[in-house]
Amino acid sequence: MEATRQETPRFDAAPYYSHPQGITLYQGDSLELLESMEPEQFEMIFADPPYFLSNDGVTCKSGRMVSVNKGRWDRSMGVQANHEFNLRWLQACQRLLKPDGTIWVSGTHHVIYSLGFAMQTLGYKVLNDIAWFKVNPPPNLSCRYFTHGTETVIWAARDTDSRYTFNYKTMKEMNGGKQMKNLWNIMSPRKAEKVHGKHPTQKPMKLLRRIVLAASNPGDTILDPFCGSSTTGVAAVEEGRNYVGIDQSEEYLDLSIARLQDVL
Ligand SMILES: C[S@@+](CC[C@H](N)C(=O)[O-])C[C@H]1O[C@@H](n2cnc3c(N)ncnc32)[C@H](O)[C@@H]1O
Repeated sequence: MEATRQETPRFDAAPYYSHPQGITLYQGDSLELLESMEPEQFEMIFADPPYFLSNDGVTCKSGRMVSVNKGRWDRSMGVQANHEFNLRWLQACQRLLKPDGTIWVSGTHHVIYSLGFAMQTLGYKVLNDIAWFKVNPPPNLSCRYFTHGTETVIWAARDTDSRYTFNYKTMKEMNGGKQMKNLWNIMSPRKAEKVHGKHPTQKPMKLLRRIVLAASNPGDTILDPFCGSSTTGVAAVEEGRNYVGIDQSEEYLDLSIARLQDVL
């Protein structure tokens, strides 16, 4: 019987957009794209995956009751299937990180336990869980829960041997000369960050700038596998890093391009 040979995965998808200043955007299913990319390419990954919280509930926006639904991509597939999805993309990202690379993964209670368990299962080394306090969150309309005022961002190294980047001094300077804690007070994105259009789960620039500055260096390449409006990309460009973003939605990639062109 003929021996089978493991082929090196190749990545031959044409970019949706690229810019010589180290920017590439791909349109498609992250799971497939990530698994076909060359390994060990990235110093840092920021992932803001589906939180699977679009359950037809309501929330409050600008004082009005609105649907909590973000899009079809955010509908839960069931606890087990959600976890399998998380395991698969986190495994693909681990293969793409350089040995000393780190990953940041955001989530709420809907998904963060699955994400954390998947990361532990895969052998990532969890470095911190950041509590992002949104300072001025919308009130809880049902009055049956505490107001949801935080998200968690897990920061982890590729594995236990990683000699990862932590720009300790920069963080201390940004915190008025005191060691920075894992509690980050950061407001939701301002209007000025949405001049090109709105993404339903857009992250604030301040959050991404801090993450980029904490765990990467100029010239590094940062991947965002669920890039949405490319908040990560804007922070990467502003701080002299290269950027690769993936999203399945052309609408969000066009929004990304508009935002990126403002800073290029
Ligand atoms: C939480 S949002 C990211 C928002 C982003 N951090 C920002 O600041 O704009 C998640 C994004 O993942 C995309 N997405 C969801 N599932 C995907 C998949 N399987 N492959 C590619 N993109 C996906 C959605 O279109 C959505 O834009």
